[in-house]
Amino acid sequence: MTTAAETPAIASVPTSPADVTSVLVVGGGQMGSGIAQVFAQAGRRVLLADVSTEQLERAKQGIAKSAAKLHEKGRLSDAQLADVTGNIDYVSDLAAADLTGVQLAIEAATEHLETKLAIFRDLDAKLPDGALLATNTSSISITVIAAATKRPKHVVGMHFMNPVPVLKLVEVISGLETLPAVTELVMELSVELGKTPVHSKDMPGFIANRILMPMVNEAFFVLGEGIGTAEGIDEVMKLGMAHPMGPLALADLIGLDTTLAILEVLHRDLGDPKYRPAPLLRQYVAAGRFGRKSGAGVYEY
Ligand code: CAA
Repeated sequence: MTTAAETPAIASVPTSPADVTSVLVVGGGQMGSGIAQVFAQAGRRVLLADVSTEQLERAKQGIAKSAAKLHEKGRLSDAQLADVTGNIDYVSDLAAADLTGVQLAIEAATEHLETKLAIFRDLDAKLPDGALLATNTSSISITVIAAATKRPKHVVGMHFMNPVPVLKLVEVISGLETLPAVTELVMELSVELGKTPVHSKDMPGFIANRILMPMVNEAFFVLGEGIGTAEGIDEVMKLGMAHPMGPLALADLIGLDTTLAILEVLHRDLGDPKYRPAPLLRQYVAAGRFGRKSGAGVYEY
């Protein structure tokens, strides 16, 4: 038996993007802070949660820098710039936060199944019954994450690309139980954020990483076999294929630990040896070279 005070507020499920006025973002890394920024720019109230106060401080500074850059270029209005500062609250203790008004939570924590399941169990217990739960996972099954909650019909994948304030794509992934209306709402909401949504079924890597990661992995094999230098490999893909950055520089941007985690999901869940992570990528991760965020990856920063 629960008392009235312990019972979570029962709010109705949002049925249109306009109903989503208050958003919780869990995880203050580069993806979480970018997601918080684009929701704030679109006039939503945002709670950005991370257990680390240092991470929250970095997020705050990164968001301010990114918004100032976009404002300077005329891509953000004065009002939107003010919204980015005024609309985001930073919280390190979710248990102490008032979550009664939240209609949508987006998890953007590390790409680790057990971590995500623990977060979803916690969000399911703390958020109003009507709130939608989304994950920014790059590859982990939405169906598996949804099954950790009592609201699998209201769990969906909302996969942003890095850097979130710049790149237009949002992959929207429906799990086995996700209601079509929920998928549709998240697609429409993505448009309100200035993004272009593309729907994907819930299969390992979805569309983006099913295609991107084998290319990035192959670049590590080519580097490991000494076929070219890191700079040479990246130049080939930039100048020869007009990619905005080479695959090794991109892996450093994504994070080599995240890149390896995604490849491991593809390899394990699809059971196909073509996704086997390159030994050199494993070595970089073992050495703590996680890419830009740790100051060194394939390149030094
Ligand atoms: N906020 C605001 N503006 C930013 C920004 C940020 N966080 N990061 C970059 N920019 C802006 C720069 O100010 C610059 O603007 P102008 O062109 O108007 O001057 C522009 O973006 C380009 O930046 P740079 O000149 O510094 O460098 P660049 O031309 O190489 O662009 C880049 C940087 C936008 C990152 C570009 O190289 C790029 O798009 N790279 C590919 C990124 C990519 O593929 N991302 C997807 C990764 S996969 C993923 O995220 C999902 C997953 O699951 C792993």
